[in-house]
Amino acid sequence: MPVRPLAVVVLAAGQGTRMKSSTPKVLHRLAGLPLVHHVLETAGALSPDHLVVVVRHERDRVAASVLEASPHAVLVDQDDIPGTGRAVEQAVEALPAEFDGDVVVVSADVPFLDHETLASLLEQHRTEQASATLLSAVVPSPAGYGRVVRRASGDVDRIVEHKDATPDELAVAEINSGTYVFTVAALRTHLPRIGAANAQNEKYVTDMVGLLTAAGELVAARAVAETWRLEGINDRVQLAAAARLLNARIVEHWQREGVSIVDPLTTWIDRDVTLSPDVELLPGTQLKGATFVATGAVVGPDTTLVDTEVGEGATVKRTDATLAVIGAGATVGPWSYLRPGTKLGAGGKIGTFVETKNAVIGDGSKVPHLSYIGDTEVGTDSNIGAGTITANYDGVNKHRTEVGSNVRTGSHNVFVAPVRIGDGAYSGAGTVVRKDVPAGALALSIAPQRNASGWVEANRPGTAAAQAAARADQAAGDETTD
Ligand code: UD1
Ligand code: CA
Repeated sequence: MPVRPLAVVVLAAGQGTRMKSSTPKVLHRLAGLPLVHHVLETAGALSPDHLVVVVRHERDRVAASVLEASPHAVLVDQDDIPGTGRAVEQAVEALPAEFDGDVVVVSADVPFLDHETLASLLEQHRTEQASATLLSAVVPSPAGYGRVVRRASGDVDRIVEHKDATPDELAVAEINSGTYVFTVAALRTHLPRIGAANAQNEKYVTDMVGLLTAAGELVAARAVAETWRLEGINDRVQLAAAARLLNARIVEHWQREGVSIVDPLTTWIDRDVTLSPDVELLPGTQLKGATFVATGAVVGPDTTLVDTEVGEGATVKRTDATLAVIGAGATVGPWSYLRPGTKLGAGGKIGTFVETKNAVIGDGSKVPHLSYIGDTEVGTDSNIGAGTITANYDGVNKHRTEVGSNVRTGSHNVFVAPVRIGDGAYSGAGTVVRKDVPAGALALSIAPQRNASGWVEANRPGTAAAQAAARADQAAGDETTD
């Protein structure tokens, strides 16, 4: 038997009023991804012939995000008629007239819906040759959801929305998850018949069920045991709870892949992060975006890495890094701030209270203490002295600093860019490097120190300092007379 063609419709036009946000609900992030991306991934796994996404609220932002995840999605703009029924109706109108298959309908706000659940819903629908099959669940607190009303025979009769339900119907514990399969023929016949005479004055897709059963057509329901998978995100309380739940699953996944995670409750790992066996994550670590950590690396405590790559055996302690690459065996932190474009070579070091940006620091090179290194390239095995600042900005333009290999610069230097320090060069403490330093040279810029003897006694008589100086003079005198 040939497989029937398949369309998936994702409903993403709603405003998400309950989020109270200027960001559309479906773009709020969960484990680093917009809500709608979670559903699009599940929808895509069914390999549908058509993927239709209905948009309206903040249309352009939502559309851009949808196309980022699913470039082949067909976007449909919902018109002024509100409700999930209208959204599905317009999606069906966008399908080719000759399309004669099944239509899976999912909401964009159910991020835990997984491929297995959706695939088995579709399979049951096809096996039972139903006109519609809905995914339901029996839950302890059904408030807010539509309820599945069954006949005395046990067959599905209709769905009633919470706001339209009688007290008896509110007592029903079987909820409609908002995920369905319909034959396109059923949708084409009955969607135009749905009205908006309900508490919300909206066209409900859920009315399809009552219309179909009244017409004597079969509506099946598949009740799932993993009820959490069907939970919709409607407000920020649910979003935070969902984030906690998803994070726990991601943490457990990586633990089973050989990652040591000391404190799962304070470790947050985005969906697109990749970890290697024998990585160790210490408490308070957040790994975001497409961060990658190689085997043997230790990250944390209290570290946030965004789109950052950590090499084998590296140590990254109390650090904030974005778009940085940390080489194998390198050490970073504690209290380091790596901004985009930082690339630390193998065995290198970025130490305490050091900020870097657009800085390529070669293998074995070190910036150990209290420094700002920006728009800079450092060769291999060089050491940048404590308290070094690259003055890379003249108020108008940014300029580059180049430091060669095996360089030793003194403490408290300023490199006034553009400037170049040659291989093997040294600089003295407190040097303000304004001119290029040739290879092997020692750069010194400060004036020789001058001591004005007796200045304190002459200018600050009677102070504690003057008294201390007098005592020191006395002691020195005693020594010389002995
Ligand atoms: C819906 C169901 C309810 C079910 C619940 C499960 C209806 C009438 N009710 O209620 O039975 O228990 O989901 O979570 O369908 N949307 C549009 N266009 C619109 C309105 C909504 O595209 O005009 C989209 C929303 O963006 C959202 C989805 O449809 O992704 C569901 O809308 P929402 O307002 O969250 O419906 P619920 O009240 O949760
Ligand atoms: Ca919802």
